[in-house]
Amino acid sequence: MHSFYRCFRHLTAVSKHNLCFLSSPGCVRSTVHARDYTSEGGQVYGDAFSRSVNNPAEFWAEASEDIVWHKKWTKVLDDSSSPFTKWFVGGQLNTCYNALDRHVDEGNGDQVAIIFDSPVSKQMDKITYKELLHEVSRLAGVLRKYGVERGDRVLIYMPMIPQAIIAMLATARLGAIHSLVFGGFAAKELAVRIDHAEPKIVISANCGVEPNRNVLYKPMLDEGLEIATHKPKHCIIYNRPMFPFCVFKKGRDLDWSIEVDMAKPVDCVPVDSMDPAYILYTSGTTGLPKAVVRPSGGHAVVLKWSMWNIYGLRPKEVWWSASDLGWVVGHSYICYGPLLNGNTTIVYEGKPVGTPDPGVYFRILKEHDVAAMFVAPTAIRAIRREDPEASYAQKYLPLPKFRGLFVAGEHCDKETLEFARSVLKAPILDNWWQTETGWAISATCAGLDMSLLPPSGAAGKPVPGWNVQVLRKDLTQAAPNELGDIVVKLPLPPGAFSTLWKNEDRFKKTYFESKPGYYDTMDAGYKDSDGYVYVMARSDDVINVAGHRLSTGAIEEAIMTSEDIAEVAVVGIPDTLKGQIPLGLCVLKHGVSKSAEEVLNHVRDVVRKEIGPVAAFKLAVIVPKLPKTRAGKIARNTVALMAAGQPFKIPVTIEDASVYPHIRDSLQQIGYAKEYQPQ
Ligand code: COA
Ligand code: AMP
Repeated sequence: MHSFYRCFRHLTAVSKHNLCFLSSPGCVRSTVHARDYTSEGGQVYGDAFSRSVNNPAEFWAEASEDIVWHKKWTKVLDDSSSPFTKWFVGGQLNTCYNALDRHVDEGNGDQVAIIFDSPVSKQMDKITYKELLHEVSRLAGVLRKYGVERGDRVLIYMPMIPQAIIAMLATARLGAIHSLVFGGFAAKELAVRIDHAEPKIVISANCGVEPNRNVLYKPMLDEGLEIATHKPKHCIIYNRPMFPFCVFKKGRDLDWSIEVDMAKPVDCVPVDSMDPAYILYTSGTTGLPKAVVRPSGGHAVVLKWSMWNIYGLRPKEVWWSASDLGWVVGHSYICYGPLLNGNTTIVYEGKPVGTPDPGVYFRILKEHDVAAMFVAPTAIRAIRREDPEASYAQKYLPLPKFRGLFVAGEHCDKETLEFARSVLKAPILDNWWQTETGWAISATCAGLDMSLLPPSGAAGKPVPGWNVQVLRKDLTQAAPNELGDIVVKLPLPPGAFSTLWKNEDRFKKTYFESKPGYYDTMDAGYKDSDGYVYVMARSDDVINVAGHRLSTGAIEEAIMTSEDIAEVAVVGIPDTLKGQIPLGLCVLKHGVSKSAEEVLNHVRDVVRKEIGPVAAFKLAVIVPKLPKTRAGKIARNTVALMAAGQPFKIPVTIEDASVYPHIRDSLQQIGYAKEYQPQ
């Protein structure tokens, strides 16, 4: 890699609102390849986007030069078996090398890689790149000792602690594939993932901390392994020192600290570009989650590329993504993106409010000199709800180092955006993406000279590589501002999912069959005449609760395990804090003599037990019948609109429209459907 000086333009394009992303003029030393970021008026973005769709091979070949390849690729793009697009064919690399060893080799070993800030456990720690490498290479030694090799799966079930990142990187170091499971899922969901991924080893911890309780990971792991058919030979358990040690199962469980102390560090194992870096489960229409496969080469190239081009982050700056490692945002922007780019990444264990107060985010931005942050709008809504005047923030303001807040995960409403902007006095930039895509489909690309004041409600413009289009039902192109299905013209760029684990058929059928030549995002929305993208709603049965993606189908399946329920429909209804929350309409079996309260409490418990607390399933009512069309399809949308008190259209094909007033009565009893406006 050559060193060189890269020049940044002093960006004052949005000075009317005093918003400035790149506040330091002049030149900054960097170790990446030169590209021209200096032209004016959004042309850089325009040129980059055109090149990325007209000549994707050339575009991504150039970006791939920022990654250290063990063996350089021979062909950038092979699209001969679309949608199974291959990027960087013939290339070999190791992601852990690029995220760690490389920075140490380049003389940056003493830079802080991870800041661990945990108000809930009262811990604060800083880990340099050198220290992180030391830990990761020895944990990789432990994994190898117990049989993990290239291509094997390692399941990671851990709270938000640096050891979760160490486990991810140690897996990547061996060329193995990790599968992280979010802590808010119940043992049953964990078991489904264990059976599907068939990990050789599980890495877990004694406990995590939620404000109202300690989350005991080890007993949940034990239960999950009890339920699962696949039995990994070993579990490596990290006992957090300040919490009670957990009971080990003899012969199976290994103590992280003892094993790592005895281990020999191991070197990186190169893998092929298309070898999976990880699999990550996400919700679909049915209860069976989909396991998204992320190819190694494209993943490393685009995440490194995105840190500057989308998020405007220079190496060595501090970045904070306030998500959870169990979600795709956590994979891409707590762990891999910032480390590949040589940034300092913050691992935060806490909430936006209550840990201890709504000032905590601002304390972190100030205390750690954060340059840019990534967050879900729901977290800002939580702060605004508790502290509408932002009085807790005041003692940490101004934030001279802070340049921008990137929001994603759900639609960002105008009030939330304005609140964040007025407090932070910085650009608030919405970007839209999905577990499947692994990085932003549309965004304001801060490093590509885009205006930092996108129109209200827009999630930026298509990011280079993502040829976003909007289609009508007859697959013709929608006009500007016309609502339709948002799709991406193939090929998908590097870093997007390459398939679904053990399910190529479902991959093809779910995402590519109904709209040939396109990837179906299952989001509905529109583009305006300037090309800005507006994402309005999911067109399938997925709902978004506090930035967490949930399947209404999975919640329904859980409820149906209750012996009292004959039929159920779960819909997402608007919520001022969480964006959406699930509501269950339950039809009782004949002859149930229990009280409604008893049945509904049981239903709530069942969902918590089967799916986990993350489902946030609290609202359920009993109705005599569900609103179904003659073809048997439940008219969920009408219920969601009715609950929100909005006008709704009763489909002409509805079998029995008399059910609506009954549903209204039930909803009114729990404070919804205050207005009743059938049309
Ligand atoms: N492990 C175990 N349990 C978890 C958990 C985890 N990692 N994360 C959440 N839960 C639990 C919560 O404790 C809660 O349990 P409870 O019913 O006993 O109270 C339940 O799951 C629901 O959690 P949540 O929907 O997050 O609600 P909340 O009231 O605890 O917090 C917010 C509300 C808005 C503060 C919180 O949702 C938040 O910070 N959201 C940001 C989401 C985010 O970053 N998403 C990333 C996608 S980009
Ligand atoms: P997940 O796969 O969990 O990241 O969830 C992806 C879904 O979240 C998308 O399909 C959208 O429905 C929603 N989403 C993510 N980001 C945005 C955004 N910026 N605006 C609107 N919806 C979003």
